[in-house]
Amino acid sequence: MPSIAVIGGTGVYDPRLLEDIAYETVSTAYGDVKVTRGVYRGKEVVFLARHGAEHSVPPHLINYRANIMALKKLGVRSILATAAVGSLNPQMKPGEFVFVDQFVDFTKGRTQTFFESRPEGVVHIDLTEPYCPELRKILVRAARSLNLPACDGGTYVCTEGPRFETPAEIKMFRQLGGDLVGMTGVPEVVLAREAEICYAAVASVTNFAAGIAPYRLSHQEVVEMMQGQGENIRRLLMQAVSWIDEDRECACQAAVSGPVQT
Ligand code: HPA
Repeated sequence: MPSIAVIGGTGVYDPRLLEDIAYETVSTAYGDVKVTRGVYRGKEVVFLARHGAEHSVPPHLINYRANIMALKKLGVRSILATAAVGSLNPQMKPGEFVFVDQFVDFTKGRTQTFFESRPEGVVHIDLTEPYCPELRKILVRAARSLNLPACDGGTYVCTEGPRFETPAEIKMFRQLGGDLVGMTGVPEVVLAREAEICYAAVASVTNFAAGIAPYRLSHQEVVEMMQGQGENIRRLLMQAVSWIDEDRECACQAAVSGPVQT
């Protein structure tokens, strides 16, 4: 059973480096999900292309619940998720990685929970540490060992998309404490926690955000930047995969079933 998954965002569609590749469709209560399974250094790894193999699904139409539930059904306990982001913070530059530790949610109308009607009652999960701190530590260590420019921690602002932001919105996000902006991190991270799967984001800065960049933004620019980073992203992910202890236990994995807080 694979215990580690990589969710590939914009520009990360190809799980190269995996051996014994097999394509599989996983059926869930929320829909079917296509994944690629393979082996890296003896570890089974699942790869899921968030926007579909052809990048045809825009951020607001991604079936986040089906994706996370499919990984849960496969036995996944740790997710490394890549994300292209714009930067609002002059210290976080295009070409750098940021292992985010907080988010601010500006999405609209995306279903953020698996728990809609439970006889046992409602579920309110704790998100004091929304991203798994243990996986984040591994990513930081992996980036350092590979000499990749990376920042440990940052606040990710999730917008609804698919449009880019206005400069006025970016100014507001900055005033609210945001460092980075993207369109897909929420509710993915929330659903992973509800599914009791450790989740860490590998944010790859592709551009300064609208109004900070001295030019207009384009999806093409984001894709090209991500493709340019492809090799570094793959090296980083695979180093991290090789260091994840598949049998480790973590508080993320008891987010719903763990001790009830009174
Ligand atoms: N805004 C939102 N999403 C993004 C950006 C951006 O500037 N760059 C890459 N993904």
